[in-house]
Amino acid sequence: CSEVEVSPSVLAADWGNMNGEIKRCLDAGLKRIHVDMFDGVYLNSSEALTFGPKMVKDMRKYSKEIIMDVHLCVEKPHRYIDSLADAGANSVIFQFEAMSGTDDAICLAKKITENGLDAAMSLNPSTTLDQVKDILITNLFTSVIILGVNPGFGGQLFQNVNPKIKDIKQFIEENNLDTEIVVDGGMNAKTVHAVVENGAATVIAGSFLFQHPVSFEQGLAELRGQNS
Ligand code: DX5
Ligand code: ZN
Repeated sequence: CSEVEVSPSVLAADWGNMNGEIKRCLDAGLKRIHVDMFDGVYLNSSEALTFGPKMVKDMRKYSKEIIMDVHLCVEKPHRYIDSLADAGANSVIFQFEAMSGTDDAICLAKKITENGLDAAMSLNPSTTLDQVKDILITNLFTSVIILGVNPGFGGQLFQNVNPKIKDIKQFIEENNLDTEIVVDGGMNAKTVHAVVENGAATVIAGSFLFQHPVSFEQGLAELRGQNS
């Protein structure tokens, strides 16, 4: 049985010790981190205010090897792509719901790939496969991120998006797309099992890892153990 890839969301990490947190991920054998870039405007919450390109650049200074996936929950995401590429991000995830339509989403995905980055699109729990078929079919996306929570905060309960994961997996297979399924939000030792069964190759976990009562490493083992 293949092992699920785990990508820690540093939203839940100790931001005062980000270099140490990244080192901890690398020491645990992890290859990538998930960086939630929230502007406090798009999600309409002053609490949802996080990092910008400078943070990505500074994290990159200390770690050449970590893969950084930047999740944009911002107004006007198009304007950050160049600076994120310069900063050393590896991929950019944009919210389908922040786009004005299919053409806008495809245009942004092209801008991301033209900058040498992997493109990914994330879908809120209420967004359906039918709404995004015309975008995914372009095969511009390395991954599709299926959110198990409405973005904005760590530590929320997982909403049952398993039927959608299964449908999207089938759509990817039927159309021979090179797109991997990633699930973000509400992942823990219990919820990970079904999402992997339904087709997720990678799960993003924040609070379960960084706020685990025993340790980050124990949390990681529990997430992986569900699929061994
Ligand atoms: C949701 C973010 C997630 C978040 C996940 O707002 O997009 O990346 O950090 O946090 P947990 O794992 O705590 O649900
Ligand atoms: Zn995220």
